[in-house]
Amino acid sequence: MSKILLEIQGLRKQYGTVEVLKGVDCTMQEGEVISIIGSSGSGKTTMLRCINMLEEFQGGRILLEGEDIGYEQSGTVRKRKSEKDIARQRALTGMAFQQFNLFPHMTAAENVMLGLVKVKKLSRDEARAIAEKWLDRVGLASRADHYPGQLSGGQQQRVAIARAIAMNPRLMLFDEVTSALDPELVGEVLQVIKGLAADGMSMLLVTHEMRFAYEVSSRVIFMNQGVICEEGDPKEMFLRPKTERLVEFLKTSSFN
Ligand SMILES: Nc1ncnc2c1ncn2[C@@H]1O[C@H](COP(=O)(O)OP(=O)(O)OP(=O)(O)O)[C@@H](O)[C@H]1O
Ligand SMILES: [Mg+2]
Repeated sequence: MSKILLEIQGLRKQYGTVEVLKGVDCTMQEGEVISIIGSSGSGKTTMLRCINMLEEFQGGRILLEGEDIGYEQSGTVRKRKSEKDIARQRALTGMAFQQFNLFPHMTAAENVMLGLVKVKKLSRDEARAIAEKWLDRVGLASRADHYPGQLSGGQQQRVAIARAIAMNPRLMLFDEVTSALDPELVGEVLQVIKGLAADGMSMLLVTHEMRFAYEVSSRVIFMNQGVICEEGDPKEMFLRPKTERLVEFLKTSSFN
């Protein structure tokens, strides 16, 4: 029996007076790998950032394992949760971005260990063991003591992914993690994500790699102008798109 991991109901988000998410609904089962595709400005990043409470949102609900993220509702009154609760909830998700944001003055292992020591309060020895395990998993066992400046972009991104996964999140959020990489480095990062998918990690990933979305996802979501315009099985979506907007989008994308 699969279990609902994430439920998004009528999510609305404004920047000032501009509404960029206009009622997003989405249900995700544990172990699903969902790719989010859509043109620039359609709200993909904003949606991920709301799930992780990096952005406030004005309407709707996000439930992770049945628990309201960010806000509590009593009757018609909606109140932001305490910063302590939000910090705890934020740790349920791990996020990797286009920019890897590693600390340049720390080695790969130290970057991975940081959250384990500071947030999870593990000893340095325990944290080091976990960091080594995950660096090995992303193919960087021999680079544990290198600084980011001594690593390629693809290697740095793999460290960033190891850092997020090491925190043992319930859900991984990936936002165009290959977009800043030279083409020859994209494959090694996608390979790591494929491995995590095969392990049953629940993942929401925004990607422009249509072939990857087609091969790896259990489901694809196409966002357009702040709403989910079409969603479904990757084969259906890419080979038999239903909406005119998706047909147009696929013409301009890398899938062919
Ligand atoms: N901090 C911000 N302040 C104001 N407007 C913003 C901010 N961040 C994003 N927006 C606007 O919100 C809309 C959605 O942006 P978002 O970054 O979610 O799009 P996206 O689908 O991730 O696009 P891309 O494919 O280019 O990354 C856009 O119109 C964008 O200009
Ligand atoms: Mg984006």
